[in-house]
Amino acid sequence: MSQKIISPKVTLVGAGPGDIELITLKGIKAIEQADVILYDALVNEALLEYAPNAKKIFVGKRRGYKAYSQEEINHLIVENALNYGHVVRLKGGDSFVFGRGFEELAYVELFNIPSEIVPGISSSIAVPALANIPVTHRNLSQSFHVISATLSDGSLHPDFESLSQLNGTVVVLMGLSKLREIAQIYEKNGRGNTPFAVISNGTLPNQKTVTGTSENIFDLAVKHKIQSPAVIVIGEVVSLSNQTYQSIHFYQNFLN
Ligand SMILES: C[S@@+](CC[C@H](N)C(=O)[O-])C[C@H]1O[C@@H](n2cnc3c(N)ncnc32)[C@H](O)[C@@H]1O
Repeated sequence: MSQKIISPKVTLVGAGPGDIELITLKGIKAIEQADVILYDALVNEALLEYAPNAKKIFVGKRRGYKAYSQEEINHLIVENALNYGHVVRLKGGDSFVFGRGFEELAYVELFNIPSEIVPGISSSIAVPALANIPVTHRNLSQSFHVISATLSDGSLHPDFESLSQLNGTVVVLMGLSKLREIAQIYEKNGRGNTPFAVISNGTLPNQKTVTGTSENIFDLAVKHKIQSPAVIVIGEVVSLSNQTYQSIHFYQNFLN
């Protein structure tokens, strides 16, 4: 009987922000060729149907499931590549945007296992886009800054103090539990009218968007029962979310 030759390989694939169609063609091809898929909680599980015969391992954090440490995930990737061949490590959004993708590839490299990166569409731009918020706009914001709300010890990221002084757009990931504190920093720094948007389950059928200002956004998010995962967008571009492209065009001419 001939034995299958195992050729270990790891492909780090960004699954996109949620909508199953917001993954790259290259990502789908990698999934189709996978022997094993290790996937996270924010990955749309419908993507797994592209690999009917692959072994699937859920390694995300979800109630009722074992929570794997980063070290255990690293071991699982390597162990499965050595035993089964092509491992696809499937992560929400883009694996290099708050995704620990680089750390995982660094571990894989220690075992001389070849690896490949397939970038994904990050929620940091796609989720605002589908709430009709461009992260930059010629007249309103010439930069955007993506930040995780917390440091690894759970405390609020100290950079909000300086970000609150900027005119550029601030996009906050993992920030819902810190929304009140973030809004308070803007108020304290005299930016109480800064537009805020909170968008949950972006790109999915249950997407919900709440817009307001630093003064009322926390109360509005509570009132509308906004839940994780959510992206917070801060800055003048948020004011475009309720406008049609026609009126935005008009507005742009007006500003010129
Ligand atoms: C650990 S980070 C991973 C980000 C991911 N690598 C990316 O590029 O989108 C998880 C955070 O991304 C944001 N997020 C991801 N998918 C989202 C979605 N569909 N709707 C709203 N926020 C989302 C939330 O802020 C969530 O807490």
